[in-house]
Amino acid sequence: MSPLSTYENLYRLLADTDLEPWIEPLRQSVEPAILQSNNGHLDKWLNAIAALPTPNNPAAGSLTSPAIQIGRPQDLDTDQRAALPDTLHNFRPWRKGPFDFFGTHVDTEWRSDLKWDRLLQGISPLKDRLVLDIGCGSGYHCWRMAGEGAKLALGTDPFLLYVMQYLAVRKYLQQPPVWVLPFGIEGLPPALPAFDTVFSMGILYHRRSPIDHLYELRSYLRPGGELVLETIVVDGPHGYSLVPDQYYAKMKNVWFIPTVETLVQWVTRCRYRDIQVIDVSTTTTQEQRSTEWMVFESLSDFLDPNDPSKTIEGYPAPKRAVLTAKAP
Ligand SMILES: C[S@@+](CC[C@H](N)C(=O)[O-])C[C@H]1O[C@@H](n2cnc3c(N)ncnc32)[C@H](O)[C@@H]1O
Repeated sequence: MSPLSTYENLYRLLADTDLEPWIEPLRQSVEPAILQSNNGHLDKWLNAIAALPTPNNPAAGSLTSPAIQIGRPQDLDTDQRAALPDTLHNFRPWRKGPFDFFGTHVDTEWRSDLKWDRLLQGISPLKDRLVLDIGCGSGYHCWRMAGEGAKLALGTDPFLLYVMQYLAVRKYLQQPPVWVLPFGIEGLPPALPAFDTVFSMGILYHRRSPIDHLYELRSYLRPGGELVLETIVVDGPHGYSLVPDQYYAKMKNVWFIPTVETLVQWVTRCRYRDIQVIDVSTTTTQEQRSTEWMVFESLSDFLDPNDPSKTIEGYPAPKRAVLTAKAP
């Protein structure tokens, strides 16, 4: 069975929701976005998904532990277990996770569970909610949302490798209402005010027009629905935001890094209400680091070796804030 057949189950679920008008546009766009992507790695990834082993028993999963748990070691025979790491290496770099496939621990660049732990107590319970996660990466947080009882955890990310990482997990965990769409926010069908919660995490500083992004996020929320916004912040006076000259922590697509107060001001000006800053944390090299599963440079290479409170370019080192806000 094609790994893409999972999207048929998404369309079935949408049929009973206010997102029903999305079914046809998604049916027209999801498969082409993957199969006609011209990505030179696509065959390798699809072959790797096909090569992932079939367990003796249907793989049980856990969506509430720090690593998304897929099956148990004893569900595979010795040869299958020995071959699994090489098959999973086809999906490197693994950035957002961790995941545990039958005892093979995919130690991703990011301990995404730490971000989840910081925000979970501060957001409205996700049980029975329709949730949209813009820029979801591998879908790690979408699995955690389903673990909290979300009715739908719909992620979207234009980077095809991350969609393939989702499909690798999906091969085993077919029941949870989790789907990752293979496009950026601009590829979604016309917005409907239908979601109960919209997440935008690690996106705002990549947007050339952050205010437009905040308005756009609002357009997916039902009245009273909740935005969960996470972004890099800096210290500074009210109204200030840093625009890096070119690179910030070796990233070239960073545009605006506000202070927490400025971020609240932006969200207020976009007419959200009940704005709560629920966490501000400096990113550590325990949370973001190179591993066997992401062998390229990571946070320690992006910081000044003589002063880790600064990036290599001399800007304040990454500190992240999470806030919640309600749509009017
Ligand atoms: C810094 S990562 C954040 C991942 C995840 N939300 C998290 O907090 O761990 C930013 C993600 O946004 C995705 N992205 C880039 N452009 C995007 C767009 N136009 N729409 C949605 N996502 C986008 C990237 O592929 C990447 O996975």
